[in-house]
Amino acid sequence: MELNKTNIELLVKEIYAISGYNFFDYSFKSLARRVEKILEFYECGLEELIERMRKNPLIVEQVVKEITVNTTEFFRDPIVWIELEQKILPELAKRNQIKIWHAGCSYGHEAYSMLILLNEHQLLKKATLIATDINADVLQAAKKGTFRYFIDMEHMINYEKVINKNMEHHVPYTKYFIVDEAKNILNIRPEFLNYIKFYKHDLVTDSFPPDEEFDLIMCRNLLIYFNLELQNKVIYKFFKSLKPDSFLVLGYYEAILGTVSNNFLKSGQVYKKIK
Ligand SMILES: C[S@@+](CC[C@H](N)C(=O)[O-])C[C@H]1O[C@@H](n2cnc3c(N)ncnc32)[C@H](O)[C@@H]1O
Repeated sequence: MELNKTNIELLVKEIYAISGYNFFDYSFKSLARRVEKILEFYECGLEELIERMRKNPLIVEQVVKEITVNTTEFFRDPIVWIELEQKILPELAKRNQIKIWHAGCSYGHEAYSMLILLNEHQLLKKATLIATDINADVLQAAKKGTFRYFIDMEHMINYEKVINKNMEHHVPYTKYFIVDEAKNILNIRPEFLNYIKFYKHDLVTDSFPPDEEFDLIMCRNLLIYFNLELQNKVIYKFFKSLKPDSFLVLGYYEAILGTVSNNFLKSGQVYKKIK
């Protein structure tokens, strides 16, 4: 059976009926790509997958995890981190307290990257870091601060580009990580665990934190999976959750489009709340 809007919608309806997860406004293209992979994995057609989901709710959970892509890395898109360091941190440094939300944090690489950057700027002690995701499994892993050495070391080049761009002050990554190469493990040092509060939150169905709560919201490489209407809805809620003159950072390939963009001043991937 070829995947089209009608049969993908059938699957989305079924997922919603069984589990309450709401993918109605995810972009058709990315849903179709994911569903194709799921069907390949289960070696069945869409109708059979729906039948299996009805009989076994665990399969729904598995399908949901496959739909929500978890790709991430430390200091992903270093250029955005350097922008953040130059444009946002000097303003946040003037505030008594700094509250940051990583929405769609996946395995936690982005939130731990922030922790490292804040620590290097002596801002960690006055920061509150919150990181949320729809997927409970990735949050479990994120809380432990345990990563895969061989995969994540490939991305340590990002760490070097951001943290060690000024050669006179070299900070070895081992200041933050303990390496166990034999076990393929990279652990966040225990003294840096527990700074970040990880919890489950669905940007589509859950209520948002109170108004004017955050100095910075990072939501990167997630909105691309939503259609434009849902993107705008979520961005408007982020706008409400930000304190005046505070910041929203999106992914390298994401932008605020439509009227909600009038509420922000854009500079690269950094959006400052202006009204
Ligand atoms: C591609 S990862 C991005 C991770 C990180 N922000 C980065 O840029 O490296 C997208 C994350 O968004 C999460 N996600 C997808 N839909 C979501 C939703 N409705 N609410 C909260 N998180 C969601 C996925 O579970 C996944 O971990």
